[in-house]
Amino acid sequence: MNDEASNPNRYAVVGNPVSHSLSPQIHQAFAKQAQIDLSYETIELPEAGFANGVENLQLEHFKGLNVTVPFKQQAWLLCDRKSPRANDSGAVNTLIFLPDGNIAGDNTDGVGLTRDLVNNHRTLIKRRKVLVLGAGGAVRGVLPSLLALSPENLTVANRTLEKAEQLAKDFHDIGDINTFAYEELGREKFDLIINGTSAGLTQEVPPVPDTVLGVNSICYDMMYNTIQNTAFVEWALNRGASRSIDGLGMLVEQAAESFFIWHGMRVDTAEVIAMLRGEN
Ligand code: ATR
Repeated sequence: MNDEASNPNRYAVVGNPVSHSLSPQIHQAFAKQAQIDLSYETIELPEAGFANGVENLQLEHFKGLNVTVPFKQQAWLLCDRKSPRANDSGAVNTLIFLPDGNIAGDNTDGVGLTRDLVNNHRTLIKRRKVLVLGAGGAVRGVLPSLLALSPENLTVANRTLEKAEQLAKDFHDIGDINTFAYEELGREKFDLIINGTSAGLTQEVPPVPDTVLGVNSICYDMMYNTIQNTAFVEWALNRGASRSIDGLGMLVEQAAESFFIWHGMRVDTAEVIAMLRGEN
């Protein structure tokens, strides 16, 4: 048995692709703070082999997993029980393997986003006009947490309008969501504009008109880049957004919430965000 396999505190992030994930570095930094011994691996599962892969890891005595693209919706289906926020979002990013063999699921992405916005960047959501770009799994994961903070209104714009409309229907019970195609936007300015599309993977920016930006608008990209600005952060800066923030803080905050679920300990996220940005 190698060292990782013999560690009773064994965790991993599963995804495809997953090799570039920062999660092992983040969880090891938290473990150091909390003074616990932790094994945290990256495991790539085949696209068609998520459920089997998870079952094998459960048999190998892993205690829990983080789940990333493209498996969060499949993880939701696999869980025997779910937290209310995971249940509402239709996506799970944190699995807990219980001693009785059941799998519990949670979603920490939404609280990761709102903690980064509110605690780290002092950005208000309550009574603010919020525009979310995209209507895929990443956006579904964060909507319950955004709606819970009572924005004045929440608008979702998407390239494929029907997907935004379906999403508004699915979330009808937890809050009102306005929907628009990008070209229909522009009559209203927003206080907070969150990019939840995957356009950044190809260095693209969703075709949102810059008329949505007012002088005090804050832009937030759920994607991150520790080396240079993401395409959306750059877009917003060039168009006069008052602040333009990438999603590294969200990544660390969602990890901190998973760490809390698994180990019952709160950690100092600022230290880890600074470390990842190369600031200490
Ligand atoms: P994820 O799990 O990352 O959310 P997804 O469920 O495939 O991935 O959703 C991707 C989202 O990014 C969708 O809202 C998609 O728009 P469509 O629904 O119209 O496909 C959006 N997206 C991806 N590339 C984009 C681009 N170049 N411009 C605008 N939106 C884009």
